[in-house]
Amino acid sequence: MTRTLSNPEQYSQHWKKESEFLDSHHIYEKLSKVTPIGNVLEVGCGAGFGTRHLSNGRNVLSLDSNPHLIMEAKEYLDSATINHNIHKCDLFDLTNEDKFVIKTFNPKIIVGWFIGSHGVDIFKHTEEEPGELEKSKLYREKIEDIIASRDVCVCSVDYIHLVNRGGIVLGLPEDEYFNSTKDDYDTYVFNEIGFEVSDVKFIDWPREGSDFQYGQAPNPNLAEGESVPAITSIIAKRVKNEHMANL
Ligand SMILES: C[S@@+](CC[C@H](N)C(=O)[O-])C[C@H]1O[C@@H](n2cnc3c(N)ncnc32)[C@H](O)[C@@H]1O
Repeated sequence: MTRTLSNPEQYSQHWKKESEFLDSHHIYEKLSKVTPIGNVLEVGCGAGFGTRHLSNGRNVLSLDSNPHLIMEAKEYLDSATINHNIHKCDLFDLTNEDKFVIKTFNPKIIVGWFIGSHGVDIFKHTEEEPGELEKSKLYREKIEDIIASRDVCVCSVDYIHLVNRGGIVLGLPEDEYFNSTKDDYDTYVFNEIGFEVSDVKFIDWPREGSDFQYGQAPNPNLAEGESVPAITSIIAKRVKNEHMANL
């Protein structure tokens, strides 16, 4: 049987519906409340629901590669009379102009909420991974690495706010969760660039009423056991300047 992968247009309709659903459960509002104040570089604007909440008291520059979602976001933000600044680019293929746009915006915070893409994109960038569930995770990890690169995480950035969906193990104490998430992200993403996880929050992930197909694979570095759906918000703070981070 040949697998049919979602294309940019199909994905934009699915994500629009899912993000409307998340917004109706106040997820973006809750997330934006913990995002620090300052210029926000939003990696992936989707249909614009996160952009709208982030724009409350902040300048936002959004990056996205999907023209259908960019159009949805612009229409949505216009209808809500929210100013927007959406730059079309592919994070896997940033041009000098894209890098210039990012740097001159002087972002203080980078936001990467619900990183994902349409099937064609995910398969194209994860050819080395045979497992379908693992592909979405690998795609997210690759984007996280790009976020942590010097092209995106420029000198002005003090915070990185990542948001993922997954499961949390029932009964595991909160500090154990904080420590395992922090260890994982500090080791694989942040320590190398002089950042450190400073805040981890879990928000109930509403699933009833949603038919969005999330590809997810368990993180082998986190605890095992019976789990409940949760959205994990992770904020990392710069603790060393670039020079010291490389020592
Ligand atoms: C799952 S949506 C999340 C959007 C938004 N952050 C939200 O929470 O609603 C992921 C977004 O990232 C964008 N994206 C994925 N891969 C990208 C890439 N390589 N370059 C630029 N944008 C990308 C997608 O087009 C999509 O709009």
